[in-house]
Amino acid sequence: MAVQYVQYKGIKFPPGYNTVESLCFAENEFQVRDDDIFNITYPKSGTVWMIEILSLILNGGNPTWNQHVLNSLRAPWFTTQLGLETAHNLPSPRLLTCHLPIQIFPKAFFSSKAKVIYTLRDPRDVLVSYYHFSKMCTCFEDPKSFNHFLESFLNGDVCFGSWFDHIMGWMKLKGKSNIFFISYEQLKQDPWGSVESLSHFIGKELDEAAITSVVENASFDAMRKNSMCNSTMLPREFMDQGKGTFLRKGICGDWKTHFTVAESEYFDKIYQEKMQGLKGIFPWEQTGLESNSERDP
Ligand code: A3P
Repeated sequence: MAVQYVQYKGIKFPPGYNTVESLCFAENEFQVRDDDIFNITYPKSGTVWMIEILSLILNGGNPTWNQHVLNSLRAPWFTTQLGLETAHNLPSPRLLTCHLPIQIFPKAFFSSKAKVIYTLRDPRDVLVSYYHFSKMCTCFEDPKSFNHFLESFLNGDVCFGSWFDHIMGWMKLKGKSNIFFISYEQLKQDPWGSVESLSHFIGKELDEAAITSVVENASFDAMRKNSMCNSTMLPREFMDQGKGTFLRKGICGDWKTHFTVAESEYFDKIYQEKMQGLKGIFPWEQTGLESNSERDP
């Protein structure tokens, strides 16, 4: 059955928890506190990983909160009705999560001292992860084929809109003292240094033992075993665990096993066109967006 997406200001959102009213409230009426910490991503860029890291940092590396409280209660999705209620009742400092593009982010944020952590990921790996996620999550249309999904992704015809617009929009705030950009690739390459920088940014300095605990408890293996963040607690009508695993592979470069040479070249062409003025600064560009597909054309 076709999924009826929620449409808000030209962008589609997965139904169920999001409504036009909740999105409108988040944009226009959500009360931002000066010590709020927003965890923002385009889908499949490491959102849930960052929730684990930030929850652990706020608790000085102690994993008890992460192990006993669902991630959606620790860092609520405030654009949904349920998440909004949770967010209202959380003590400060709050962790808040969303995939909102900047143009519909809470207006109150822009006159506040609240902080934003924006996590980016190689768009090709985002696409692959999104493709698999869409198959298991009932709020998303089952992709007709990988190639069809690639086309939709490049056209921005997916939930939360175009990856390119999302990145370009948020990157306009680069340089502001209350915004911290980090990539999935950085987190993978240097988890220790990343946690140290993140804790410094949110004003919670940690000693070596605490940083080590954050890194260990937010590792892919630890998260896979933790039902408070591995999505196994989600109702079957929302997430069909028989069709995949939310914490799927957790690696960089999985796109190489999915893209054909032709798809890779096509992706690169669109990427070069759309990223004008914002190229050469991302970790996945260090060796170029070369077409080194391991899958047959
Ligand atoms: P894959 O599907 O490539 O495995 P989000 O939370 O934004 O939906 O992102 C989900 C992606 O982040 C999935 O990617 C998931 O496996 C990955 N991920 C989550 N926790 C991770 C961790 N601790 N280390 C590495 N990757 C992680």
